[in-house]
Amino acid sequence: MKVITILGSPKKNGKTAQALDLLEGNLIAKGHEVERIPVTDYQINGCIGCFSCFRKKEEPGCIQKDDAMFVFERMMQSDVIVYASPIYSFDFTAQMKPLIDRHLCLTIDFGQPLQTSLIANKRVALLLTCGGPADVADLTQESFRRSMKLLHGSVIGNYVIALGSSPDFNSRAEGITDKLTGAICI
Ligand SMILES: Cc1cc2nc3c(=O)[nH]c(=O)nc-3n(C[C@H](O)[C@H](O)[C@H](O)COP(=O)(O)O)c2cc1C
Repeated sequence: MKVITILGSPKKNGKTAQALDLLEGNLIAKGHEVERIPVTDYQINGCIGCFSCFRKKEEPGCIQKDDAMFVFERMMQSDVIVYASPIYSFDFTAQMKPLIDRHLCLTIDFGQPLQTSLIANKRVALLLTCGGPADVADLTQESFRRSMKLLHGSVIGNYVIALGSSPDFNSRAEGITDKLTGAICI
């Protein structure tokens, strides 16, 4: 199985990256292929709202010539996508949000009865870290659920590792990423 993990933190070695290290280690130990995409390694501009992408169905069709198409290609070639982000101001980070917005170009027949997407039925999961208690991540989980409903993604689950500065972060991260590994590998 091929798993793409998308790191939405500006920190390459922060808490979210640490959680991904654990998850990816588990998956690799089970023989799966894993590729991490740190969004800060790529130039992903904000959506400009031109809707040109609606003209194309077989490919993302965005007119912007940046790295988003590369990331979408990797996602489309995967079996599972894990979106990992810290919570910033009760939301995805500013680095992650442009990629989420640009998912619009993956939709097919947007607004029509048979609307689908280029990642329809793809298994997807959300992995969030935050400084506060888990409920600070409620809005982000809901926006992810709605975005994935629009895209017809198959949501494996949402996983939140709260209290990022607490000394037991790593042991809790291990428990949560073990659960996510189990959900990915069923
Ligand atoms: C600008 C900024 C905004 C944040 N907003 C929140 C927040 O709204 N709620 C919360 O619980 N933690 C918040 N945090 C804390 C981070 O979510 C937390 O430290 C996270 O684990 C950092 O992950 P990272 O090390 O991968 O970047 C914020 C941190 C920053 C830098």
